[in-house]
Amino acid sequence: MGMASPVPQALILPARQGDLRAVFRIAEASFPIPWPLEELRKELTRPFSTLRVLRPEPNASIAAFSNYWRIDSEVQIMNVAVAPEHRRRGYGHMLLTDLIATGRDHGAHAVVLEVRRSNTAAIVLYERHGFQSIGVRPRYYSDNGEDALVMRRSLGRP
Ligand SMILES: CC(C)(COP(=O)(O)OP(=O)(O)OC[C@H]1O[C@@H](n2cnc3c(N)ncnc32)[C@H](O)[C@@H]1OP(=O)(O)O)[C@@H](O)C(=O)NCCC(=O)NCCS
Repeated sequence: MGMASPVPQALILPARQGDLRAVFRIAEASFPIPWPLEELRKELTRPFSTLRVLRPEPNASIAAFSNYWRIDSEVQIMNVAVAPEHRRRGYGHMLLTDLIATGRDHGAHAVVLEVRRSNTAAIVLYERHGFQSIGVRPRYYSDNGEDALVMRRSLGRP
């Protein structure tokens, strides 16, 4: 009787040492050239880096993560990835909403990123969050010579 069941709400928190293996496994499953575990570990100590992890529920395992650098007044997205078995549940949306909010809190004026030209899922997601393509880096990715699109979103207004 009585209480309505709570709306499920995933949690996004700063990564800790013990989260790094799970983050690395998601990176390995998500990127042709994943960052090595040791590089991800450094993100916990670099003063300009942020690494955040998403759990579907408070005690669940990590399903997704985001990683970005603050350089001057810009946020540069380094990694955003959702474990393959957790995709299309809105976690990518949630990570970007969180990234934009935390970037604003840090006083950033814009968010920039590079994305493979063929990565439709990511490009559509970024466009939905107000990113626009501002340029191309030809043959940017060394594994297959693919171009990178450079995308940017101003944080000047919500
Ligand atoms: C890109 C990625 C982060 C999206 O995560 P996700 O949790 O599946 O995304 P969401 O469920 O929040 O979906 C957000 C929107 O993105 C778009 N999208 C996501 N996957 C898509 C796909 N396979 N095809 C087309 N559009 C897609 C849709 O517009 C979707 O909204 P909708 O479900 O309401 O239609 C995920 O596919 C991923 O980890 N990919 C590998 C790593 C990667 O490419 N990262 C980005 C590199 S810059």
